[in-house]
Amino acid sequence: MTNSEIKATLSFSDGSPSLEMPIYKGTVGPDVIDIRKLYATTGMFTYDPGFMSTAACNSSITYIDGDKGELLYRGYPIEQLAVNGGDFLETCYLLLNGELPNAVEKEKFVATVTNHTMVHEQMQFFFRGFRRDAHPMSVLVGTVGALASFYHDSLDINDPHHREVSAIRLIAKMPTLVAMAYKYSIGQPFVYPRNDLSYSANFMHMMFSTPCAPYKTNEVLVRALDRILILHADHEQNASTSTVRLAGSSGANPFACIAAGIACLWGPAHGGANEAALSMLEEIGSVDHIPEFIRQVKDKNSGVKLMGFGHRVYKNYDPRAKLMRETCYEVLQELGLQDDPLFKLAMALEKIALEDEYFVSRKLYPNVDFYSGIVQRALGIPTSLFTGIFALARTVGWIAQWKEMISDPEQKIGRPRQLFVGSQTRDVQPIEKR
Ligand code: SDX
Repeated sequence: MTNSEIKATLSFSDGSPSLEMPIYKGTVGPDVIDIRKLYATTGMFTYDPGFMSTAACNSSITYIDGDKGELLYRGYPIEQLAVNGGDFLETCYLLLNGELPNAVEKEKFVATVTNHTMVHEQMQFFFRGFRRDAHPMSVLVGTVGALASFYHDSLDINDPHHREVSAIRLIAKMPTLVAMAYKYSIGQPFVYPRNDLSYSANFMHMMFSTPCAPYKTNEVLVRALDRILILHADHEQNASTSTVRLAGSSGANPFACIAAGIACLWGPAHGGANEAALSMLEEIGSVDHIPEFIRQVKDKNSGVKLMGFGHRVYKNYDPRAKLMRETCYEVLQELGLQDDPLFKLAMALEKIALEDEYFVSRKLYPNVDFYSGIVQRALGIPTSLFTGIFALARTVGWIAQWKEMISDPEQKIGRPRQLFVGSQTRDVQPIEKR
């Protein structure tokens, strides 16, 4: 972060004293105006619901250019990482440490993660308290938060070693917990992780194998899942990452912070969109129903949104959507489902939307969630678990951002203010006078 020669000056039409504020330049992307002295100097706050024009921190992890449709993890384009940048654990190492691992570093990191994939045997009893048809995200919010009760040896957030151990434990155990949530929901026994399988193969094994028969993973499907995890790993200061940072700013332990992130991701405007997008495609049903659906979307009173479309930052194509569509095609081809009606419906809907002035004028393009549901369904993952997979992938991004925040000398407890529009001071009247 460097100081710009240019300063920002805030002046008032009533002649009140003006305020000069420094402007900082990052490596790339918009400059920022440092308003930290605004309240002390003017007695006023800025007003920015939804933080449309607010940088909450400085970060060196992920950069998004919404106009160019660009996404960089530690400077590497997502297209390179997802296609020829190695596997998800290499991306995890990159997000956590700032550099891709060499062969020796990768072997050590994979071994460390692999040897933390089991959860405490007592964790299984938490599941017993849930209904079998509980939404997996409710189970994950509960069980991930509960991990803190087993790891008193790594909860001191000011100890770098504790932060490192917690990060590894969370990355390693999320697949186990997500698979346990699935097995519990279908009444099958939990499947223990296996150390001889890769991260994504191990997850497929814990999800789909049973004690009754040998289970062989399909390498094309494992690679597809690995790519889905890479595409979802981090995304700058999105709602759930900001939730993790805000929770972490109070000194809460990392397991509690990640549980807060999972809760926020669950929302249909955020990570819940992949589940909502697939339900939307199933509801539309066929290509000839698309015009009526689009009409409803354009009718503001309908409250109907085109799920999987639009983005706060991407005002051009979400680069992840393009890669997700390719992965979708590869998986459907591998499974002989190239004529999958939902995939064809999704492509038809995308084509119609991209040619429709309503969507073009609002810069609404497919985002990562539009195709991810179709490919996850083809992998055999139930719709209700789509967002759980998103949480599994985003855990590394959340924990990398949490670690960066904790070690940032500028970080303080997050405490936004407000524009108060409620009642003036007034006296309580006795009930008979109300
Ligand atoms: C993710 O932030 C991230 O990085 C998130 C994420 C990540 O990796 O962490 O990328 C993951 O959350 C992707 C987004 C998934 N959500 C959805 O697909 C749900 C559908 N999308 C919308 O809810 C919406 O597009 C948002 C929430 C994603 C973005 O909302 P914004 O930036 O606040 O956009 P907006 O509400 O200001 O919309 C601008 C206009 C409005 O119309 P007008 O009032 O100008 O007439 O576009 C309309 C909106 O009504 N609009 C949509 C729409 N999204 C916006 N209209 C129909 N369908 C949509 N999907």
